[in-house]
Amino acid sequence: MLELKNIKLSYGNTQVLNGVDLSVKRGDVVSIIGPSGTGKTTLLKCINYLVKPTSGTIAFDTIRMDYAKVDKGAIQSIRCRTAMVFQQFNVFKNMTVLQNVMDPLVVVQRKSEQEARQIALQELEKVGLSAKLDSYPSQLSGGQLQRTGIARAMAVRPDVMLFDEPTSSLDPELVAEVLKVIQDVASSGITCLLVTHEMQFAKNISNRIVFMDQGLVAADGSPAEIFEKPSSLRLAQFLKSEHTQH
Ligand SMILES: Nc1ncnc2c1ncn2[C@@H]1O[C@H](COP(=O)(O)OP(=O)(O)O)[C@@H](O)[C@H]1O
Ligand SMILES: [Mg+2]
Repeated sequence: MLELKNIKLSYGNTQVLNGVDLSVKRGDVVSIIGPSGTGKTTLLKCINYLVKPTSGTIAFDTIRMDYAKVDKGAIQSIRCRTAMVFQQFNVFKNMTVLQNVMDPLVVVQRKSEQEARQIALQELEKVGLSAKLDSYPSQLSGGQLQRTGIARAMAVRPDVMLFDEPTSSLDPELVAEVLKVIQDVASSGITCLLVTHEMQFAKNISNRIVFMDQGLVAADGSPAEIFEKPSSLRLAQFLKSEHTQH
């Protein structure tokens, strides 16, 4: 459903992505792991064109685009089918929880207030926030903020959910409630790409693990292949260091 080929990207003189190939099937839950600074966030951002690769191609179902030639129609179509959850919660401070989730439905999808409200209520129920509809972000915990962000992303009914270290900025005791919600999203059958340092979680929810190193996909396989039979010393060392840190 999603195929990225030979994606290259530099910030100034620094080459960050060195020719990434990644192919994702509908319903896949792919966790992307790898050392900090290796281009994981940048790769997710290439998919919805938040950053512009210098070369490479993307195919998303029938949409095809060569990054060398900007195609606004293709970019728009891909954006409509993806939703991203960021490390630093994608919620607006001046809107209530309910308004945050209704917002993209009304503003981007041009749904009526009534329809938007109905969808938002459903999504907020799934993430356990039905009691917080009228709260403002300043009144919420990090876990509740991130669950609002996930409800907001899911409300647009994307084909692919992109999660960028969704639990990294949470206090440890709030991580589990967010992982539970991500697990529900993944088991609902929606295609997920998840950048995470939660190795055990990645192992449990993913059908594939991609190890990125120095701007390249350095290993790609089932959780068993990646975690139990690491194919390189780099990967083995990375897994060991994650194990020690977390
Ligand atoms: N907007 C930017 N401008 C310049 N350099 C950037 C920018 N965003 C990221 N980088 C650099 O690109 C590299 C990859 O970043 P990133 O994709 O965030 O890595 P990761 O998510 O794997 O930690 C890092 O060296 C980072 O400092
Ligand atoms: Mg990152």
